[in-house]
Amino acid sequence: MQVLGIDIGGSGIKGAIVDTVTGQIVTERHRIETPQSATPEAIAAVLEQLVSHFNWSGLVGCGFPAAIQHGIARTAANISPSFIGTHIDKLFSEATKCPCYNLNDADAAGMAEMYFGAGVGQSGVVLLITIGTGLGTVFFTDGKLMPNTELGHLYLKNGIKAELYASDAVRKTEDLDWTRWGTRFNTYLTMMEKLFWPDLIILGGGASKKFDKFKGQITVEAPVKPAALLNQAGIIGAALYAQSKNTLTDK
Ligand code: BGC
Repeated sequence: MQVLGIDIGGSGIKGAIVDTVTGQIVTERHRIETPQSATPEAIAAVLEQLVSHFNWSGLVGCGFPAAIQHGIARTAANISPSFIGTHIDKLFSEATKCPCYNLNDADAAGMAEMYFGAGVGQSGVVLLITIGTGLGTVFFTDGKLMPNTELGHLYLKNGIKAELYASDAVRKTEDLDWTRWGTRFNTYLTMMEKLFWPDLIILGGGASKKFDKFKGQITVEAPVKPAALLNQAGIIGAALYAQSKNTLTDK
């Protein structure tokens, strides 16, 4: 089956058509800058543009940078606060005139990695962290997803929220080299390991492409791997999620 997968991020909104059987992207990825205001209306308008770019009329799945409970956005860290309480499944379906299902962006990336990437066949506890504008987290226990863990918002010992200390956006704005940023990120990983004892940690998002540059700073005991699908995981996972929701409503 083909589904339009969309990854809504703090700086860009990226889409591609995904074959959900193979987990492959079957078109070029198309990226549009996230509008500065990042309001529900502005983001809905970008989704409409993506749907028309792909001349799409089928199912749409979106990874969204917030906790999403039954189609409703519950948080809004790097997007407009007016998203809180917005039924985004409804809003985006109306704007695109396509059935549209949303889930947290890290949950989407995690689904793709567990089905087709670095987590395939992994039992026990898997933690995936997306490193981008924020820090997104998702856990799987024996392959089962625990949705909406917002653990990029944990406070570190220095009193600073993890994503305001060790995200990729912070690396860029504070102009940290990979060693300094890697040391910061390792502080966060160490805390996560002490709290959750994952069997495997997968790193996704933009920084996952640069794993070689900071892996020397990582000291946790759990194996740490970069995401195999790199920054396409969010698009692929969003498509998988939409398909699973659509199958449920079909019954
Ligand atoms: C949001 C999460 C999201 C993460 C990565 C955080 O600021 O609260 O919901 O998964 O950023 O985009």
